[in-house]
Amino acid sequence: MDLKGKNALITGGGRGLGKAVAIMLANEGVNIAITGRNEENLKHTVAELKTKGVNATYAVFDVDSEDEVIKGVSAIAKSLGGIDILINNAGIGDFGSFENMSSSSWEQVIKTNLFGVYYVAKAVLPYLKEKSEGDIVNVASTAGLKGGPNMSAYCASKAAVISLSQSMMAELRKFNIRVITLTPSTIATDMSIDGGLTDGNPEKVLQPEDFAEWVRDILKMNRRAMIANGSIFSTNP
Ligand SMILES: NC(=O)c1ccc[n+]([C@@H]2O[C@H](COP(=O)([O-])OP(=O)(O)OC[C@H]3O[C@@H](n4cnc5c(N)ncnc54)[C@H](OP(=O)(O)O)[C@@H]3O)[C@@H](O)[C@H]2O)c1
Repeated sequence: MDLKGKNALITGGGRGLGKAVAIMLANEGVNIAITGRNEENLKHTVAELKTKGVNATYAVFDVDSEDEVIKGVSAIAKSLGGIDILINNAGIGDFGSFENMSSSSWEQVIKTNLFGVYYVAKAVLPYLKEKSEGDIVNVASTAGLKGGPNMSAYCASKAAVISLSQSMMAELRKFNIRVITLTPSTIATDMSIDGGLTDGNPEKVLQPEDFAEWVRDILKMNRRAMIANGSIFSTNP
């Protein structure tokens, strides 16, 4: 399917996986809105996106706050003239043992990773319904498929995103809205490098461009076809 002229909102689009997806989709002629908390990163990325000849804009909001999300999404829909694609990507990785991680850090991971995905999807849905079709890509993680040591908050948040996303898929497919649940393994970004998730050589694992190509190809499938769930791994990390 040709994606040219579609409008995509990508949360966490100023860096990491969100930025890579923004660039990959802009190369297909998709107009892009990126969001995040760091305005400098967003400005730099928007300038890069504009060199590709597409409309590009940004909104600064914290996905933890439903009020901010509703205002930010509405401003983006006005600026782009509607929304066709949501990449629900913003997230944090905060790791630590079950015993020692503070309750407030634990809660913050759930708020950002689960409530963030929920608030943004809920705010975007009316705009997809307006168009009578659309795509929502929810970025979970292989960490949501199985718990592991020192990752209880992150794993629990991502397991919940998988469940939320699969429920959304079951409800929304009848509106021609494809809800796609992705569970990537380790990819070289700030999150995995700062969190010590690579073995010290980020070159050996997946790169953000690999993830972005995968998302692009899933979105380009004929609308009668939907990849409901998918995982991507490094071949030989
Ligand atoms: N990298 C991996 O190995 C990996 C593997 C599986 C899944 N994932 C998932 O992929 C997604 C992207 O991760 P990444 O690796 O690209 O991480 P990253 O490099 O740390 O980037 C995280 C992005 O999320 C945004 N963000 C974080 N908290 C936010 C908040 N409260 N409100 C608004 N935006 C917020 C950040 O924007 P600002 O800095 O502007 O706030 C940033 O753009 C996450 O959901 C992550 O869990 C990553």
